Amino acid sequence: MLKASSLAAGLAVAGILLSGVDAISKVTRSGRYLYTADGNRFYIKGVAYQEQGNVVADPNNPFLEPSTFIDPLANGTACQRDLPYLQQLGVNAIRAYSVNSSLNHDSCMQMFSNAGIYAIIDLSLPVNGSLDRDSPSWTTNLLDLYIETIDAFSKYDNVLAYNVGNEVVIAPNGTYAAAYVKAAARDVKAYLNSKSSSALVGYASIDGDASWLDPLANYLSCDPSGSNSGATAIDLYGLNNYQWCGDSTFEASYADVEGQFAGYNVAAYFSEFGCITSPPRLFTEVGALLSSQMSPVWSGGVAFSYFPAESAQGQFGMVTISPDGSTVTVSSDFTNLKTQYGEAAPPNTPSQGSAGSATYPACPQQNSSFIASSTLPPTPNLAACTCLENNLSCQFTPTNSNYSSYLGTLLNYGCSLIGQAGGSCNAIAGNGTTGQYGAVSGCDPTVMLSYVMSEYYLATNNNPQSCSFGGNGTVNSKAPSNAGAANTAASSCLASATGTFVPTAPTGGSGGSSGSGSQGGSGSPNSASMVLAEAKVLLGMGVLFVVGVASGMWTLA
Ligand SMILES: *[C@@H]1O[C@H](CO)[C@@H](O)[C@H](O)[C@H]1NC(C)=O
Ligand SMILES: *[C@@H]1O[C@H](CO)[C@@H](O)[C@H](O)[C@H]1NC(C)=O
Ligand SMILES: *[C@@H]1O[C@H](CO)[C@@H](O)[C@H](O)[C@H]1NC(C)=O
Ligand SMILES: *[C@@H]1O[C@H](CO)[C@@H](O)[C@H](O)[C@H]1NC(C)=O
Ligand SMILES: *[C@@H]1O[C@H](CO)[C@@H](O)[C@H](O)[C@H]1NC(C)=O
Ligand SMILES: *[C@@H]1O[C@H](CO)[C@@H](O)[C@H](O)[C@H]1NC(C)=O
Ligand SMILES: *[C@@H]1O[C@H](CO)[C@@H](O)[C@H](O)[C@H]1NC(C)=O
Ligand SMILES: *[C@@H]1O[C@H](CO)[C@@H](O)[C@H](O)[C@H]1NC(C)=O
Ligand SMILES: *[C@@H]1O[C@H](CO)[C@@H](O)[C@H](O)[C@H]1NC(C)=O
Repeated sequence: MLKASSLAAGLAVAGILLSGVDAISKVTRSGRYLYTADGNRFYIKGVAYQEQGNVVADPNNPFLEPSTFIDPLANGTACQRDLPYLQQLGVNAIRAYSVNSSLNHDSCMQMFSNAGIYAIIDLSLPVNGSLDRDSPSWTTNLLDLYIETIDAFSKYDNVLAYNVGNEVVIAPNGTYAAAYVKAAARDVKAYLNSKSSSALVGYASIDGDASWLDPLANYLSCDPSGSNSGATAIDLYGLNNYQWCGDSTFEASYADVEGQFAGYNVAAYFSEFGCITSPPRLFTEVGALLSSQMSPVWSGGVAFSYFPAESAQGQFGMVTISPDGSTVTVSSDFTNLKTQYGEAAPPNTPSQGSAGSATYPACPQQNSSFIASSTLPPTPNLAACTCLENNLSCQFTPTNSNYSSYLGTLLNYGCSLIGQAGGSCNAIAGNGTTGQYGAVSGCDPTVMLSYVMSEYYLATNNNPQSCSFGGNGTVNSKAPSNAGAANTAASSCLASATGTFVPTAPTGGSGGSSGSGSQGGSGSPNSASMVLAEAKVLLGMGVLFVVGVASGMWTLA
């Protein structure tokens, strides 16, 4: 404690431990349990640690998802202010929902590490920085965003896990989006492995009916290849569980979920808990969660939330911060959680030696309540998408850095024009139910839009007016000018973009159009040329794109 507070905010140097401070232990997964380096079972005693961003109340935003975020790990003064309270709570982990990879996190991360506090980092950002539950895609810009965040945090020894999504799937008819979550987990896992990182790959699920929740959990940890490989499996399943309200009991609130996950194959925890419908919160659920009643299945949980957080149900939060940001006032929720965490003594069993290694079962069958295919989207391929964009005859040239707010409108408009011209937007679309992914569906939405604009431009015999799109498009004089040559170049660019491969960090900044870090794919020869050629003959309906409206990154509780 003294050592942490003597650390001047902003001066902590990552990787250099102050003498006398024991390094935080590495946590690894054996089978379905977590262990510290000394072989003790590790239970997450966590708290959500992120101030809520701006929430625009809108019929299109029924779950009050924020449109901005405040990075909770970038302000050493604020972390220093909060550290004594986190220590009073007795937490060993915080969960952060969105961080900014271009900011410096040394002070907060070092201070928390010295205090024995791990970080569970969600990789998503609000609006267009997450897997969209209504129109999911797994694209170069998202992969690069995730990689940049991992790169920014990989130097810290206390990152426990990276979550690839939070509540992306929220209903049976949206379970097809799980194919994109699983693809993200696969690529993030491969990237972490390539960096020799032991951080776990996680997902945090909304609670729901067992008919789709169980297959979703099993799907995220299954092996589609049937060879017991964990390459596409998450390590850490999080359930945002608010079943225990007031002074409930294990039988009344948790017996069901304990039974549901009894045979689960990877580590699981409650990525959020803390029902607010019967205030004040007593947090007596901690006594069940962190006990031998639930330790066979669960490895602890994260109480929601340290900071105030508004939801449709009411106010979460255990402290209030003074308007000048200087002081913390705790509520009875805080004191109750502190008491419960203080008393928790989950068993140190099974031993790591008897935990076994994880098995990765076959994936659940699709049925009417679970509709995700076990054919996953390919690894987003930046080199292929950049090559494509350079060869497109009409390019999206945004005049406004805020273009994500109208990109979806332009895509829909472009696709409706292509539809009227007798083509389709299948190349930019993917379908997580059929497991079919268009050749351009892994590219940045800006490249998708350039592709759509180009298809329309070519379909109208290179009429310059057709590339205008209200001033959003520019003719690319370097591109092949006839449709045949353009399609040949495009299919050649995309030929390698169907397989999976180990992603690499983008070079020279973020964004879908810069850098060339991604390597060629290892996939089978693909049908890009067919897809592109067919765009002219298929009578397809315009695919409706909504970019960044319903993003799976904030709790919907
Ligand atoms: C990250 O921080 C930088 C520097 O303050 C800022 O320019 C950028 O907009 C931030 N990124 C996001 C996604 O908020
Ligand atoms: C999915 O089901 C919900 C109700 O659970 C409904 O509100 C929504 O419109 C459905 N979405 C689609 C695309 O059918
Ligand atoms: C779909 O399969 C899951 C098991 O994967 C099962 O729990 C669920 O009940 C099934 N749904 C229907 C409608 O049969
Ligand atoms: C950091 O947090 C402190 C305490 O809330 C606040 O006074 C300060 O303005 C913050 N700094 C930045 C750069 O946001
Ligand atoms: C255009 O496509 C061709 C064929 O794939 C490729 O060799 C070339 O590098 C591309 N042009 C640019 C500028 O990327
Ligand atoms: C971006 O666009 C949105 C929606 O049109 C608007 O609310 C927001 O103020 C814009 N932001 C900037 C920085 O222009
Ligand atoms: C989100 O859109 C903005 C423009 O509105 C862009 O600058 C940013 O790179 C996009 N983020 C991602 C992850 O695609
Ligand atoms: C995916 O394909 C199925 C079967 O053709 C179709 O019913 C469904 O609407 C498609 N889903 C999307 C998101 O396009
Ligand atoms: C670009 O498209 C948007 C959305 O349709 C439109 O509002 C805007 O006026 C267009 N032109 C420019 C120069 O941004």
